[in-house]
Amino acid sequence: MNFHSQVCQPTGVQGIMMARHMNANHRGMMEWALDHLEVSNFREVLDAGCGGGGPMSQLSRKAPNAKFTGLDLSRDMLRMTSKVNASIFKEGRLRTVRGSVSSLPFRNGSFDTVFACETTYFWPDLQENLKECRRVLTEGGRMVMVQEAWDAPQWRERNEYWQKGFNMRFCSLEEYEDMLLRAGFTEVVTVTEEERGWFVMVAGTEGN
Ligand SMILES: C[S@@+](CC[C@H](N)C(=O)[O-])C[C@H]1O[C@@H](n2cnc3c(N)ncnc32)[C@H](O)[C@@H]1O
Repeated sequence: MNFHSQVCQPTGVQGIMMARHMNANHRGMMEWALDHLEVSNFREVLDAGCGGGGPMSQLSRKAPNAKFTGLDLSRDMLRMTSKVNASIFKEGRLRTVRGSVSSLPFRNGSFDTVFACETTYFWPDLQENLKECRRVLTEGGRMVMVQEAWDAPQWRERNEYWQKGFNMRFCSLEEYEDMLLRAGFTEVVTVTEEERGWFVMVAGTEGN
């Protein structure tokens, strides 16, 4: 596996190095996103594609009453998430589960929040995978997506470079919103940071 392909499923030493890099790189975007999110009412959070656990550690500090389930394809990422989040692990607020968003190993309505940071680019069938996320959410819950990229004319050149290098797939904001609604979410709110190209999207379930 070359270093670049480590972004979509980081494993081994190179994967851990890549995840350290991502934890540092995503920090600013997560700080910005947290300024636009009300997270104090989060209780049961599924971090889908948790990677090295940096975004989870930022979120957990703002949501002190929440329990976290970190899910990832990569065992090495789950280990790293537990280390990076050792304090909430010790408090019994973190478990890690190996799995895919294609078939989440959880019962319907297990979580009030599905959090997905910088990961949907790699999901095998985004429309179906969003339906899976909806399935495991309670009524009154929400899905939160935080990303540093979407498809738009001003980002196309950079996105093509990332697509080739990292095998990432991008949708426009309208396409993401449309897919979320088709997946069964009832309302979608999007905030963008136009200069850097970041966005946070919150999709609510019935009763929100
Ligand atoms: C770019 S990393 C982002 C990690 C972390 N959320 C962050 O923002 O730093 C993408 C992560 O998504 C995971 N991933 C990719 N496809 C997945 C799938 N189908 N199901 C679950 N996780 C997946 C990868 O293993 C990787 O750890």
